[in-house]
Amino acid sequence: MANSKYEYVKGFEQNDTLLPQTWIVIRVDGRAFTRFSQVHGFEKPNDMQALLLMNECAKAVLEDISDVVFCYGVSDEYSFVLRRTCTLYQRRASKLISLVVSLFSASYAMKWTQFFPETELQYAATFDGRAVCYPSESILRDYLSWRQVDCHINNQYNTCFWKLVGSGMSTAEAQNTLKGTTADVKNNLLFEKFNINYNNIPPIFRKGSIVYRKQMDEVVKVEKGEVIKRLRAHIVVEHEDIIHDGFWTAHSYILAVGSKNKQQQALPRPAKPQLPSSLP
Ligand code: GTP
Ligand code: MG
Repeated sequence: MANSKYEYVKGFEQNDTLLPQTWIVIRVDGRAFTRFSQVHGFEKPNDMQALLLMNECAKAVLEDISDVVFCYGVSDEYSFVLRRTCTLYQRRASKLISLVVSLFSASYAMKWTQFFPETELQYAATFDGRAVCYPSESILRDYLSWRQVDCHINNQYNTCFWKLVGSGMSTAEAQNTLKGTTADVKNNLLFEKFNINYNNIPPIFRKGSIVYRKQMDEVVKVEKGEVIKRLRAHIVVEHEDIIHDGFWTAHSYILAVGSKNKQQQALPRPAKPQLPSSLP
């Protein structure tokens, strides 16, 4: 396209290229979900359908963006890990964040009735987003551990809090009862007062959700009694411990460099429309 006298305005655009060779994490977080969850009657402290809807939105992001290798979600937030070799949009933060946020938000609205057939969506759920680069696998794992520890601490507190309120305490009384208590004290309270073993609470509430492409053996054919298998990746949603080494050792391919395979290719996109050359 020919240069125009207006071309100089491009000089006002700031460079927001994310550091090369680092893990990019894009975290989306529901905007004012305290209100959104009240308006739509979410169960307290955890609404299973709301969490399952979040997981479906994360799957939609993972399906669409081949550079996303791992997702972790809790409450109204989801973190998306992009491989360190990602060159999508030349790693421009604004483009990557807006892509993930819009995909996630649009999916939330599109899939709402699937999870809340009886509840009309009163207004669009919106999400903010941020991108942070982590220079090493170990710091990336610390980031994910931080989110999962947060999930655990909040869930334990909220479970106690709403049980106390449900048993007749005011919210202020429940807050006072729990102020400064350790995890052990909260576990004992749940067990002794409400006969709840914290470890029996569904793992999706205690651990949050992970979404990734799981490599699984798949039988291709049986030839002369011999079973021929090949590795195929399937998108799965699980509720595993991602703080300790076990998960990462068993699934080392997730963060391995150059692990891109056929199943991880995004669907081909239509070519970018060309602007008519008559425009300035
Ligand atoms: P901003 O993110 O700053 O816009 O505020 P926010 O209101 O979304 O609060 P924040 O992200 O810190 O916390 C999420 C809030 O969403 C929680 O405090 C809850 O009020 C609500 N929430 C998320 N998941 C659930 C759920 O499963 N059940 C219920 N009842 N509420 C939920
Ligand atoms: Mg929020």
